[in-house]
Amino acid sequence: MAVTYELIKVCKQSGARLGRVHTPHGVIETPAFMPVGTQATVKTMSPEELKGMDAHIILSNTYHLWLRPGHELIQKAGGLHKFMNWDRPILTDSGGFQVFSLSNMRKIKEEGVEFRSHLNGDRLFLSPEKAMEIQNALGSDIMMAFDECPPYPAEYEYIKNSLERTTRWAERCLKAHARPEDQGLFAIVQGGMHADLRRQSAADLTSLDFPGYAIGGLSVGEPKHLMYEVLEETVPLLPDNKPRYLMGVGSPDALLEGSIRGIDMFDCVLPTRIARNGTTMTSEGRVNIRNAKYAEDFGPLDPKCSCYTCVNYSRAYLRHLIKADETFGIRLTSYHNLHFLLEMMRGVRQAIMEDRLLDFRDEFFTMYGLHDN
Ligand code: GUN
Ligand code: ZN
Repeated sequence: MAVTYELIKVCKQSGARLGRVHTPHGVIETPAFMPVGTQATVKTMSPEELKGMDAHIILSNTYHLWLRPGHELIQKAGGLHKFMNWDRPILTDSGGFQVFSLSNMRKIKEEGVEFRSHLNGDRLFLSPEKAMEIQNALGSDIMMAFDECPPYPAEYEYIKNSLERTTRWAERCLKAHARPEDQGLFAIVQGGMHADLRRQSAADLTSLDFPGYAIGGLSVGEPKHLMYEVLEETVPLLPDNKPRYLMGVGSPDALLEGSIRGIDMFDCVLPTRIARNGTTMTSEGRVNIRNAKYAEDFGPLDPKCSCYTCVNYSRAYLRHLIKADETFGIRLTSYHNLHFLLEMMRGVRQAIMEDRLLDFRDEFFTMYGLHDN
């Protein structure tokens, strides 16, 4: 099998899982945070820098790479790993989510989704078969099934019809997948905030035996306690011997609460997106470096951080660069934010090893502040 999960241990205090996901391009230590490289680059970061902060895997997007530069071109280049000079694992999202969040005038049919490109207005059609063709050409280690992520809130009947179609699409993805020997295809559980619909989606998808399962349709504007309830309902229905991936979640509190509820993988644009307007995550909570109070602060961004940014530059310098719109400024804040989350996940894995993840969470919240988005 292209992708397998190895369970190392379960935290006696929290129930969180320490494990490894094995892929053709190497091992992912879990629970893992995956930096997002939507357009075949984690914005402003080189592969060497990502390796320097010990990122095991990055995520990229079918939708964006299909529209530009095109999957055939990337295949000609020798695949996505070679094209972007990243030799560690890559996960690609299927385009399902991006069609709904970015494109215009979409029409959902049984066959697939008709929509207009957000780049030039071209009429396009994405289907389970097309999403597999594109991801097979990109050559990602982990591919995602084509799904619909319904909006929040939505009518119960709409969500039920949508998840049933998503299951039929997942079956079509399995059939269309051309490289099961070296690319692992994960299915996506949907069902909104309804426990019975989550159960239905999980039961139908797990009967199809995918090498991994994602939980989608969360972090779409619902209160966090609802997301945690859905995880408590859904995770126990997923097989113990496969990885579980919570899509689109990346705030520190949600990474901790998700790990405690048995999630192995997470991704989010949050650390890199907020970095570009000067917002950073530090051991004392969020710091917006544009704030006037940092104008003459010659100390490090985060005194507890050992990253390249914090070892070498001051808050005053970072503030100056960001305010002057200098690219180097957003490189430095992006580097720090990614380092911060990856370091936090190393702490999570260590705490699971020592059966103390609930203590680790409480200590983290005391330091960081309770809620973050
Ligand atoms: N990213 C965040 N949520 C989702 C989801 O529900 N489906 C997909 N494909 N990607 C996501
Ligand atoms: Zn730092």
